[in-house]
Amino acid sequence: MSMTISPYPNALGAEITGVRLSSSCDEDIIAAIKSALHEHLVLVIRDQNLDPGEQVAFSERFGELVVRVSGEFLHPDYPPVLILSNRIVDGKAEGATDAYAGSHWHSDLTYAEKPSFGSMLHAIEVAEEGGDTAWANMYAAYDALPGDIKNRIDGLNAIHIRDRRRNPRAGISENFDRDVNEYYDIKVPDSVHPMVRRHPITGLKSLYVSPRFTVAIEGVDDAEGQPLLDELFEHQKKPEFIFQHKWRRGDLVFWDNSATIHLAVGGIKPPGVRRLHRTSMAGEVPYG
Ligand code: SIN
Repeated sequence: MSMTISPYPNALGAEITGVRLSSSCDEDIIAAIKSALHEHLVLVIRDQNLDPGEQVAFSERFGELVVRVSGEFLHPDYPPVLILSNRIVDGKAEGATDAYAGSHWHSDLTYAEKPSFGSMLHAIEVAEEGGDTAWANMYAAYDALPGDIKNRIDGLNAIHIRDRRRNPRAGISENFDRDVNEYYDIKVPDSVHPMVRRHPITGLKSLYVSPRFTVAIEGVDDAEGQPLLDELFEHQKKPEFIFQHKWRRGDLVFWDNSATIHLAVGGIKPPGVRRLHRTSMAGEVPYG
């Protein structure tokens, strides 16, 4: 079996075939995947079959895993695995639906001081229609900004928060079926990150804000800061920066959170069920 990497004709993304992922993959396979990730930012690795324990062990080859602060939707035996599922069991979704994860463009865990450097989603069940995930390239979004906006945001920091009750752009979905206050009362300190981030490996600059987590610009009053954020949020989701993935069962998608944002596109047509397992690797404190 030999591994083939085929770039997509989009602003980001590549498909990998001919490899069987496992915790015991050779070091040269791991190195090739890391290098492809830095080049293409999103890797769609087809035809995998990792049980939750194997997904954890494989993900750990790329770094320490992060366990989400809320205990909801975590795999009971493997807490680093977040279950995303719209299947209703006893009147409630068995996993995080897009009311909890993915409904607004974001990069994973930027509300933390050390956001995740990369995440993996493994498709266990897929719906016939709907349920795509989209990624956008934030190197390209930064590069395409007008010079005056680049000058304005270079050196500025933005505030990132987890609590949807304090973020009117994200808000609470009508499909939120847990106790909202219990879910968001978990105290997570707000984080402050550069709006233009230098990638820890490539050194390239990316636009590092998102409507899900970024709520204000440090030291800039809202009268000036909010319209600027609105402009950046519109800009970063332009079609030319996006790759949209239609899931096949067995796909494992690995992406770089430092230089991309992503979105659960939604639209799963009942009775379709989509179940994905997510693992996220810890990253570093972002710098500009
Ligand atoms: C996520 O934001 O990690 C989930 C994306 C999705 O459900 O498509």
